[in-house]
Amino acid sequence: MKSPARTTVTAALPYANGPLHIGHIAGAYLPADIYVRSLRARGKEVLFICGSDEHGAAITLRALKEGTTPQAIVDKYHALMGKAFVDFGIGFDIYHRTSSELHRKTSQEFFLQLNANGAFTENTEEQYYDTEAKQFLADRYIMGTCPHCGNPDAYGDQCEKCGSALSPKDLIDPRSTLSGSKPVLKPTKHWYLPMERSQQWMQEWINTGMLDGAQQHDPAEWKPQVLGQCNSWLKEGLRPRAMTRDLSWGVPVPLPGAEGKALYVWLDAPIGYISATKQWALDTGGDWEKWWKADDTRLLHFIGKDNIVFHAIIFPILLKQHGGFILPQNVPANEFLNLEGQKLSTSRNWAVWLHEYIERWPDRQDELRYALATILPEFRDSEFTWKDFQDKNNNELVAIIGNFVQRVFVLCNKYYGGKVPEPAPSNAAQGEQDTVLWGELSAIPGKVAEDIDKFRFRDALLTAMNAARLGNKYLTDTEPWKLHKTDPDRVRTVLFNSLRITAALSVVLEPFLPFTAQKLRAMLGLGELNWGDALREGLMVPGAAIAEAVHLFKPISDEEIAAEVDRLKSNTPVVQQPPATATAPVITPGPAMKANIGFDEFTKLDIRIGTIKEAEKVPKADKLLKLSIDVGETAPRTIVSGIAQHFAPDELPGKQVLVLCNLEPRKMRGVESQGMVLMAEDAEGKLVFVQPGSAVPPGGEVR
Ligand code: MF3
Ligand code: ZN
Repeated sequence: MKSPARTTVTAALPYANGPLHIGHIAGAYLPADIYVRSLRARGKEVLFICGSDEHGAAITLRALKEGTTPQAIVDKYHALMGKAFVDFGIGFDIYHRTSSELHRKTSQEFFLQLNANGAFTENTEEQYYDTEAKQFLADRYIMGTCPHCGNPDAYGDQCEKCGSALSPKDLIDPRSTLSGSKPVLKPTKHWYLPMERSQQWMQEWINTGMLDGAQQHDPAEWKPQVLGQCNSWLKEGLRPRAMTRDLSWGVPVPLPGAEGKALYVWLDAPIGYISATKQWALDTGGDWEKWWKADDTRLLHFIGKDNIVFHAIIFPILLKQHGGFILPQNVPANEFLNLEGQKLSTSRNWAVWLHEYIERWPDRQDELRYALATILPEFRDSEFTWKDFQDKNNNELVAIIGNFVQRVFVLCNKYYGGKVPEPAPSNAAQGEQDTVLWGELSAIPGKVAEDIDKFRFRDALLTAMNAARLGNKYLTDTEPWKLHKTDPDRVRTVLFNSLRITAALSVVLEPFLPFTAQKLRAMLGLGELNWGDALREGLMVPGAAIAEAVHLFKPISDEEIAAEVDRLKSNTPVVQQPPATATAPVITPGPAMKANIGFDEFTKLDIRIGTIKEAEKVPKADKLLKLSIDVGETAPRTIVSGIAQHFAPDELPGKQVLVLCNLEPRKMRGVESQGMVLMAEDAEGKLVFVQPGSAVPPGGEVR
């Protein structure tokens, strides 16, 4: 692997169909921004790309709902989101939009090149059609039950509950989003990406990092959940996927005979990163190509987990089929953020909206950035609560950073009239005390950068905060306010050192708290600083002027927090949830409990331990397996189970499972199923066995 000369960082292009909430920021934009700021501070070449995703059903459906045009929707939300990014200090080099002319041209050229390279197959196939709305139903125009996790509201392109990518025909009981009616099948022609052709190299590239004989990335650096999602897709086998749609809103397919057809939004959207880079180059006189084509450029996509397959599998296939482009070196996806014990939900208005936050908490952007950075869902879902926001503000920002800086500036103003004091020579004990301090402090910038490089932003922030903790401890240990009369030399040294710690804080906290870092530098009379300046000698010059003491952070009262919680709850129907406490482990709520049943209803169920003897695929049914299971009778039972996308037939024989034996037999695909296998679902929506703790003879009752 070449060491990178520059890094292209993209953050998922948000759909311009609604405002941004804290889940968006915690998923992609805040981690990307922290990452980019830290690279910039280290003098690395980096380009930070974003824009709004303005095509697809997400937009047209919103327009229908608001009774307006798609163009009006994207104009409104492009601007609203753009303001939120600026307000929260998310420092893109460019925030572009996919409805632009440059993007249309770029994505059409990309499509034509793919077509010329033979990357597509043209197919006329039956697709779902809404006879009332007179429209083909792709993606979000169609909903139904997810075959993987049973979510009844999965979209035709994706289940937002388990993250699986879907096509409309995967949905159980499909219905039209437009009219609610049951769709009919009707033929239509589309351009398909035969992804199965890429199965081989994709599998190898993801899992070993090797591509065309060269090491492109180190898979050990990829997050386990990203590799996991990719591999569960690869295991099911890559399949052809339509890259065009029957839609008028979108980038028109630039081929004869394709009137009324548009590029699939997930084809044009990631190309939006490229067109945004082109626009940046036009604006700044830069060169866009080196950011996408040079093999010493490193490409990173920051996204939420619902975007993994599009960025780690589909877009790389497109880039490779097109030719000339580098592939992403990592796709550091985050999991989801929950809010006060529930999933964030736009439709139920269960969210903290950035444009509303900024109105109620003006100038408190860093407070939100901080609270979110401490709970980023880096490896598992996490939870934002207003109480935790208050605690983080009061106990950490106010009590640790604010308190330290306040004390240093009050004392310097009081003793030295607002000038940097001249340090004095130390005696042995004092020298030892300071050596210990510098020893601990000097390890911090490197450690913070190292964690950021590994996409461990929570750890990095903890370490950065240790610089402020050390500062407080230093003041507590040296007590300059007591020594001022008796040992003014020592006090000058202690406060000089404390100003240096403040300068270091303004460096190591900058990626997380850019507004605060800016304030600190202004207070210290310093300009822009690099990472290497954190503890640089000579940075603070004795005699130079510093500002008056100010409170960097204000405590947040219980009333302010109660008002936020009330506000949230008044917006949304009450759902029974166990109370969340700040110290309790984060629990992602499962589906609501069903109504109670009597004991005798329970005793009617005959659940047994069974041992699987044989398993085979049911022809022409890609979800079904035919199992032969010993439940302690004279002959094994035949049970048809919808688990084919979760298990290969040959991994099943010998496994013990729970079987509901007295379920009315029913025929599926011509085979009579004599019972039902019971399984559970993991966090990704994948089925997993529920097995006895140790082997039980087949037929053992479960009571
Ligand atoms: N608009 C998509 C979403 O919000 C993300 C698109 S990322 C892209 O889920 F860059 F690929 F466009
Ligand atoms: Zn699902």
